Amino acid sequence: MIIPRLLITCCIIKCLEGAKILGVLSIPGGSHYILQSKLLKALAENGHDITFITPYEYKGKLQNGTWTNIVLNGLDNYFQDKLPTLKLFDDGKHSGIKKLFKFGNIVTELSKVSLEHPKIQQLLKTNQTFDVVILDQVMNDCLKILAYHFKCPLILLNTVGAYPYLNGQVGNPSPISAVNPFFTNADKEKNMDFVQRVTHFFYFLVDYLLRELQLFPMHNQILKDLFPDPPDVKDLYYNVSLILLNSHVSLTKSVPLTPNMVEIGGYHIDPPQKLPENLQAFLDSAKEGAIYFSMGSQIKSKDMPLERRQILLNVFRRLKQKVLWKFEDEVLPGKPENVLIKSWMPQQDILAHPNMKLFITHAGLLSNTETIYHGVPALATPIFGDQEMNAQSIVQGGYGLKLSYNDKNFTEENLYNMIQELLHNPKYRDNAKMRSQIYHDRPMTPLQTAVYWVEYVIRYKGARHLRVADVGMPWYQYFMVDVVVALIFGMWVLLFVAKLAIRWFIGKIARRTRGDEKKVKQN
Ligand SMILES: *[C@@H]1O[C@H](CO)[C@@H](O)[C@H](O)[C@H]1NC(C)=O
Ligand SMILES: *[C@@H]1O[C@H](CO)[C@@H](O)[C@H](O)[C@H]1NC(C)=O
Ligand SMILES: *[C@@H]1O[C@H](CO)[C@@H](O)[C@H](O)[C@H]1NC(C)=O
Ligand SMILES: *[C@@H]1O[C@H](CO)[C@@H](O)[C@H](O)[C@H]1NC(C)=O
Repeated sequence: MIIPRLLITCCIIKCLEGAKILGVLSIPGGSHYILQSKLLKALAENGHDITFITPYEYKGKLQNGTWTNIVLNGLDNYFQDKLPTLKLFDDGKHSGIKKLFKFGNIVTELSKVSLEHPKIQQLLKTNQTFDVVILDQVMNDCLKILAYHFKCPLILLNTVGAYPYLNGQVGNPSPISAVNPFFTNADKEKNMDFVQRVTHFFYFLVDYLLRELQLFPMHNQILKDLFPDPPDVKDLYYNVSLILLNSHVSLTKSVPLTPNMVEIGGYHIDPPQKLPENLQAFLDSAKEGAIYFSMGSQIKSKDMPLERRQILLNVFRRLKQKVLWKFEDEVLPGKPENVLIKSWMPQQDILAHPNMKLFITHAGLLSNTETIYHGVPALATPIFGDQEMNAQSIVQGGYGLKLSYNDKNFTEENLYNMIQELLHNPKYRDNAKMRSQIYHDRPMTPLQTAVYWVEYVIRYKGARHLRVADVGMPWYQYFMVDVVVALIFGMWVLLFVAKLAIRWFIGKIARRTRGDEKKVKQN
């Protein structure tokens, strides 16, 4: 048994040597870029030929395989010009729904600009072929035409976990009543209460209407403008071979997934490397432990309001621990002795240091993942977007606390007390360590898993056998509304007929008894 299986495996690996892979990224965002390029790099190093359609030039070093960049120059500036209209920073003033529709508009525009881009148009005119297209999924459905054009399977890379927009594409069963990807603060163990279910129902409805009424018509128009005889965008939407999800049960809630949805959360994290000497010395000398503070790559600490900065400085000055602060300026006036600032920090390697006691983070998804990887408790200071949600899941996971950056509660006393609680209550560290253990307890590393599944899809030319039966099923059929209506109608007809029959029968008996009475009288 072993030898034939080995032979088959060898043959399979041979057949796969140097597959041609087209990676597509249409949103100029830091974390999207990190995630997409990391996956493609791993595939290149497994010996595949990568073509990467991207807003930025990729300059990584490759050990193996080939790499061609198709840089969509101008896309980044286009996006940066549009971004302020979203008003991300004054969260709360605009309703989430309005923001969602606006975001849908901007991202659709972005995919239009990408598809029209001379570089993509040029690529479409060559007789190049590809074995698979890997698309970074953000409401950019018209770009799925690339897989259709090159007659190859489509894989989606998603920067977060499963949500309705994705579930629909592969027919993932996720009952509105039970699976709620939006409220991570809803207790993992408890069912949603009535109000939560009503709210979730409306979120679901809005998401559905956004797709049907706004996105699909817009994407169909883009396709009609650019291609002679394009398929309907819904046919592209329901034709996905595999979805790679940047989630994992150690990081987010456990949800149902179809066989072609695979969790690879944390695959962007490299094993720890050696720290630069000054950082190593600083952390080694932290006898009372060290704290790492970073607001991520999008938000610059140096642009933070002075009053907030003063709160942080006052709190850090009172601590016995050493503090590393990712601060994007040369000098920080009033910097306490125990604080070291640097404009760039090797975050993953810092979190790996044994003296690391606490991570104060804006709660971006990648930072959340890294804190779990290394089992470091976190203090979440979310600002906008999904950060609030990630912060909730930190609190709920029991490995950290939350103090929203824009909250009135963001005071010196609160911040100091929370840091003390996190440093001295062992509960947080124990939970963080436990999550870290769950994170690492997998049969393959997440990056190996990602590469394996991409090759799997190429091997089986789209792996159609993984598709579940309900992909693209109309909702009234999926929820058996037609059957229930038919049954109710059938029952009604049956009752109606029965009523007529009984009435006729009673009438007949009545007539007969009356006839009998007449006979009796006559006699
Ligand atoms: C390069 O790719 C080939 C497959 O094409 C593989 O056999 C080899 O191990 C790879 N080398 C490295 C250093 O990963
Ligand atoms: C397409 O392929 C043919 C033959 O395979 C070749 O002669 C031609 O130059 C190619 N065209 C382009 C645009 O690469
Ligand atoms: C769906 O994908 C398969 C490959 O997985 C491809 O052969 C087919 O043409 C695609 N259909 C549409 C409408 O995209
Ligand atoms: C503010 O802090 C207090 C106590 O620290 C807490 O009870 C309250 O829920 C907080 N409010 C918000 C909006 O976080």
